[in-house]
Amino acid sequence: MKIQVINGPNLNMLGIREPEIYGSLTLEEINSQMRKKGEALGISLEFYQSNHEGDIIDKIQDCYGKSEGIVINPGAYTHYSIAIRDAIAAVGLPAVEVHLSDIESREEFRKISVIKDVCRKQISGKGVHSYTEALEFFAESLEQREGGAKACQSEKIRP
Ligand code: DQA
Repeated sequence: MKIQVINGPNLNMLGIREPEIYGSLTLEEINSQMRKKGEALGISLEFYQSNHEGDIIDKIQDCYGKSEGIVINPGAYTHYSIAIRDAIAAVGLPAVEVHLSDIESREEFRKISVIKDVCRKQISGKGVHSYTEALEFFAESLEQREGGAKACQSEKIRP
């Protein structure tokens, strides 16, 4: 299973940026923990970060026909980018929205996610574990899919 990980604006500054809110890990360190988790779960990962809305939209569109799912931390775009929301809906791929901080317990404007409804799941406030849990979600859905496929096969061989 191939999953695209997308990080939005200012997440390239992790490690330096407000560590009391976002922790001390750099984006590279988060990606490396994800890579390890992905290997354990049989998921191959591609990583992308951009500070630009249009580039993020291009990357989401690019996933169509290439990736089986998206893990996305849209950063501040979470709270107002209808264009990113529409891109996720347009490609129709399962997406998980992740946040390092707990957006529900911060400023009022962060409590709104315009992305949430087009994602299968939102995971927030768990630091790097928000990202690794998103991979667990994909691994579980893969298992269910394979379980379903096996059930179909046994149906077929039934006399
Ligand atoms: C964030 C939360 C957003 O509100 C903020 O703008 C970010 C990071 C998080 O991971 O906690 O850039 O998405």
